[in-house]
Amino acid sequence: MNVLILGSGGREHAFAWKIAQSKRLTKLYVAPGNAGTAMIAENVPISVNEFEKIKKLVIDQNIQMVLVGPEDPLVNGIYDYFQNDILLKNIVLIGPSKVGAQLEGSKDFAKAFMQRHNIPTANYKSFTANDLTEAYSFLENSTPPYVLKADGLAAGKGVLILTHLDEAKNELKNMLHGKFGEAGNTVVIEEFLDGIELSVFVLTDGKNHLLLPEAKDYKRIGEGDTGLNTGGMGAVSPVSFADKTFLKKVEEQVIIPTIFGLQKENIDYNGFVFFGLINVKGEPYVIEYNCRMGDPETEVVIPRIKNDILELFLALANNTLDLCTIDTDERIATTVIAVSGGYPEEYEKNKEIIGLNSVTESIVFHSGTTLVNQKIQSNGGRVLAVTSLGKNKNEALEKSYNSLSKIHFEKMYFRKDIGFDL
Ligand code: AMP
Ligand code: GLY
Repeated sequence: MNVLILGSGGREHAFAWKIAQSKRLTKLYVAPGNAGTAMIAENVPISVNEFEKIKKLVIDQNIQMVLVGPEDPLVNGIYDYFQNDILLKNIVLIGPSKVGAQLEGSKDFAKAFMQRHNIPTANYKSFTANDLTEAYSFLENSTPPYVLKADGLAAGKGVLILTHLDEAKNELKNMLHGKFGEAGNTVVIEEFLDGIELSVFVLTDGKNHLLLPEAKDYKRIGEGDTGLNTGGMGAVSPVSFADKTFLKKVEEQVIIPTIFGLQKENIDYNGFVFFGLINVKGEPYVIEYNCRMGDPETEVVIPRIKNDILELFLALANNTLDLCTIDTDERIATTVIAVSGGYPEEYEKNKEIIGLNSVTESIVFHSGTTLVNQKIQSNGGRVLAVTSLGKNKNEALEKSYNSLSKIHFEKMYFRKDIGFDL
């Protein structure tokens, strides 16, 4: 079978690495991909939102399955585009429908969905620019810290957590007046939850689901979880505090009601659901849904799955997911992200990356890299994800850090404390 992956990050390289091992694979394409995917697949210079070009590629290359990595094309309706095209209808596309993707594309939609299906989440209310006075009085009657969320996709920057009322009112006004563009036309104000976060994932056909290994990511740029938010600076799987009792609660109170809700509301969903959870005194609450796998979480989750992943995707397409089980590697996986100095603010690109060939005990997934004259250069904020497996967390981390010591590019930075709180 010929397969196409859409996307260009570490998540997509990890998927490509896994799919390349499948007995079912004939040829793998990645659009647009990066220098890492170029080593194991054919990169095609098409961006993830160019649906017409993707259609042509799928038809010309006889591609039978498309895995959508990032949220953007899903929120833009790539699933519906395939469903509504006679030539694409029978291609297996792993990703939810446009409505399903609203679980991530609209915080207001997600909160209302959770409320309808009694899924534990922070109390909230949504406001638009017309309700500014009402929104102010809502803030006045709330207890700090104040959590403000732009409704739409804001590249991970749309959530503000503020301590002072004046500051919260001011930021609320800024958001409603275009600080995050249209994404902030509606703002969700919600109760602050105090606890420890983790990410849980399922693969679902909208009726059945398979629970994948859970992970914890480290979002802040600085050690000790300080400084600005990033796309993710590292991840660990499994998560020590997600024991059997806690995961049972997650399954019963969060996952099953979510899948049931999708079914009840006739929402087509063939793909991953990423549950961003917070553990508050042993009870799970949903912080957010994503309609795709996480990055860098994929870089620790996928290496722990022993199944042939194309078999799982085919089972999803053939409605036989209920007959599958996930075969998990019991070892611990860690990934440490090497970023360009300055990230998540301004940073330089096109720095030559050296030492990749001397890494022996880790898997280096490329995030932001490109091939220029046969040399690998940095091409983004997050550049590499260095993943290792070990019998315990320390062994895995030691391998990741040892591998990182062999890699170099100008102004390379990484956190030295991934997993510090587990
Ligand atoms: P989100 O984009 O919804 O995942 O929010 C980004 C980050 O803000 C989360 O990973 C949390 O660290 C934090 N956050 C979001 N909502 C809340 C909340 N209700 N209480 C506490 N922290 C939150
Ligand atoms: N690591 C968080 C995300 O993928 O959204």
